[in-house]
Amino acid sequence: MNNYIFYFSGTGNSLSIAKQICARTQNTELISITNQIESGYEIEDADTIGFVLPVYLFGAPLIAEEFIKKLKIKRHKYLYVLFVHGGAPYSAVNNFKSKLNDAGLKVDAGFEIVSPDNYIAGNNPPNIEEARDILSKSKEELNKVIEEMKNRENSFPKISLRKNLFGTLMRPSFKGIASKAAQKFITTNDCNACGTCVKLCPRGIISINENNRPEWIGSNCEMCFSCINLCPKKAIEIGKKTEGRNRYKNPEVTITELTVRKNEP
Ligand SMILES: Cc1cc2nc3c(=O)[nH]c(=O)nc-3n(C[C@H](O)[C@H](O)[C@H](O)COP(=O)(O)O)c2cc1C
Ligand code: SF4
Ligand code: SF4
Repeated sequence: MNNYIFYFSGTGNSLSIAKQICARTQNTELISITNQIESGYEIEDADTIGFVLPVYLFGAPLIAEEFIKKLKIKRHKYLYVLFVHGGAPYSAVNNFKSKLNDAGLKVDAGFEIVSPDNYIAGNNPPNIEEARDILSKSKEELNKVIEEMKNRENSFPKISLRKNLFGTLMRPSFKGIASKAAQKFITTNDCNACGTCVKLCPRGIISINENNRPEWIGSNCEMCFSCINLCPKKAIEIGKKTEGRNRYKNPEVTITELTVRKNEP
C-alpha cells in the first residue's frame, strides 16, 4: 500500500466517507486512529496521506491531536485533511493544520464535507429522512473532493476572518468540556446490560458495574457520542436534555464496524 487514510468516527459519518474514498482510490489502506493510539504508526514512503475526521468544537477530536504526535512519516508526496461536519466547521482545518505543522507534517490540502449533526448534547440529531437528504448532499461534495484529491490540488476552504477567529477563540475550551463529559451520562431502566456501549467507547472508560449498569469513569471522554447515539435500547441520556431526542447512526456503517473493543464481554 502507498496511500493511507487515518480516520476517527463516533457515529459513522467519517468512516463512511473514508470507506468511499478508499473504494475509489487504488492501493489505499484505512487505519483506525483508535486502534493505533497506544502504538503509534510508522510509514517509510507514501504517496498520499489522508486524515478523515469529524469536527469537534471547530477542531479535530482530541485523540487525533494525540495520535499525530506518535505518527512517524519519512516520505510522502501529498497530505490532506478532510473534516466531516454538521454545518459549522469554521476553523477546524486551520486548527488541525497547525497541529500537524507542529508535528513536522506539511498539509497540502484541506477539505470539508457536510453530514448529519450527531451533537445530541446540543441539538436534536436528524431523523432517518432528514439524514438521507443531508447524506445525498455529502455524496455530491465527496465527488468533487475526490476529483481534487486525485489532481493533488492545493485547495483549502474559504473561511471568513470572523468565523476563523470565533473558532480559534472557542477551541481551547474543548479539552475542559470533554474532561467533564463522562460524568454527565446516566442510564435508564431500559438498559439491559448488553455491553454495546462498553465495546464502542474509543477510550475504554465505560464498564458494567456490580449492579449490571454501565459506569463512566475517568476524564478522557472524546465526546464522540457513540455510546449515547448507538445504544440499542436508547437507554443513555445526558441528564434531562437528551430525553426525546433522536439517536443517530450513519446508515452505511454497522455497529460492528464502529466497535473498537471486539473481545470484551
Ligand atoms: C462533541 C461534538 C462537537 C461537534 N462540534 C461541531 C462543530 O464545531 N461544527 C460542526 O459543524 N459540527 C460539529 N459536530 C458535528 C459532527 O462534526 C458531525 O456530526 C460529524 O459528522 C460526526 O462524525 P462521525 O459520525 O464520524 O462521528 C460536533 C459533534 C460532536 C459530537
Ligand atoms: S448499550 Fe445501552 S443497553 Fe447496552 S449496556 Fe450500554 S446503556 Fe445498557
Ligand atoms: S464515553 Fe461515550 S462519548 Fe465518551 S468517548 Fe466513550 S463512547 Fe465516546
